[in-house]
Amino acid sequence: MPGISLPPGTSDIFPEESAEWEFIEKKSSEVFELYGYGELRTPIMEFTELFQRGIGGDTDVVKKEMYTFQDKGGRSLTLRPEGTAGVMRALAGTDVMNGSEKRVYYIGPMFRGERPAAGRKRQFHQIGVENAGTVSPAADAESIAMLMHFLEAVEITGAKLLINTRGSFDDRKPAEELLRNFFSNHIESLCSDCKERIDRNIWRILDCKNPVCSSIIEELPDVTEAFSKESRDYFKQVCSILDVLNVEYEVAPRLVRGLDYYAHTVFELTHTGLGAQNAIAGGGRYEVNIPGMKKSVKGVGFAAGIERLIMVREALKVPERTPEPPEVFIVSLGNDAFMKNMKTADDLRKAGISCIAELETKSMKAQLRAANRNKASFALIRGENELEKGIIVCRNLQTGDQFEFEDFTSLVDIIKQSEN
Ligand code: HAM
Repeated sequence: MPGISLPPGTSDIFPEESAEWEFIEKKSSEVFELYGYGELRTPIMEFTELFQRGIGGDTDVVKKEMYTFQDKGGRSLTLRPEGTAGVMRALAGTDVMNGSEKRVYYIGPMFRGERPAAGRKRQFHQIGVENAGTVSPAADAESIAMLMHFLEAVEITGAKLLINTRGSFDDRKPAEELLRNFFSNHIESLCSDCKERIDRNIWRILDCKNPVCSSIIEELPDVTEAFSKESRDYFKQVCSILDVLNVEYEVAPRLVRGLDYYAHTVFELTHTGLGAQNAIAGGGRYEVNIPGMKKSVKGVGFAAGIERLIMVREALKVPERTPEPPEVFIVSLGNDAFMKNMKTADDLRKAGISCIAELETKSMKAQLRAANRNKASFALIRGENELEKGIIVCRNLQTGDQFEFEDFTSLVDIIKQSEN
């Protein structure tokens, strides 16, 4: 039968895979709540202007990758390409703007029209956190430490943490001058994208993967020399706190990140298990401009891609989480027994025991095969004979042992005991 195809870069997540997702999501909330974060759910679509202003009109995400459409009222809406702008829009309406701190996390789909590849999807899923309101190196370091804590909780080892500083927005001008002086001397050798970037977004040259551009960038003097002493001290302080927290990192002077709201600390977590799309998570300190607001919203945070976390777990051969099989499979022989079994199934579920009852008329053999296929621990069997005797047969499908029960409570006890 011809299947209905999915839009490129999107996937269904079936129950067999959902167990991995649920595990990762559960661990994230457990860890983040230890740090005082609570979940915030924002809409998947926002006004387009929020992303244009918030992320920056010159970024690849905004210029090339957004799913934007007009609604019936003629408004321009966009499926969120990332979470930070929407979260800051929501928090801008709270007392964060009066200096209070808010710690939130979010889990959900994001949309970017990128060329699909392994680890690069058009609908992907992020787990993100934002600490808004506080501007301090301690907040940046704590956010990074929390990311590493989360990574440990989802049993990922061997990731590399890269950190850098983008300086403050005031530092940008002198630093850009330094970059412009340097790259103007090499303009002929730069790739065509970087030639354009000199005028449009010179920082993006720093993370160009073209080998010629890379070799030129190797020679670049330390950009942070152009930053103010405060900004350099800020970054030193972030590093000192990470040292105290025993977080291992590598300072990566070329790390700029592709979103324009970053100022001061930026970081990225990479893993060799991922191939070309090697970032598991990225984040940093930012100042997000919200349309209609004079002041930007400041914060620090990160987002990790759930698909990529799962890929790394696979590469590391971490045993995959699988759905819990039902404890009980109920086998019915004859209509009267079936009716009674429907009630038994209902009673079991209400007693907290998961159970599947065969709903079609099938042979005993076929029903027991189904019980095994479903990986049930017990088969409960009731036919005309058992009905007459007022019992139900309980077969342990691992050992083959079989018992007869008259009384529902002792049946429940036996099944519950076997769970421990
Ligand atoms: P980002 O680096 O654009 O940052 O995305 C964060 C993570 O989302 C990436 O490291 C990657 O794991 C995942 N990701 C991004 N694009 C895709 C894709 N097309 N397919 C699969 N996974 C993808 C942000 O989004 C920032 N909002 C992070 C942040 C929060 N900064 C401060 N607070």
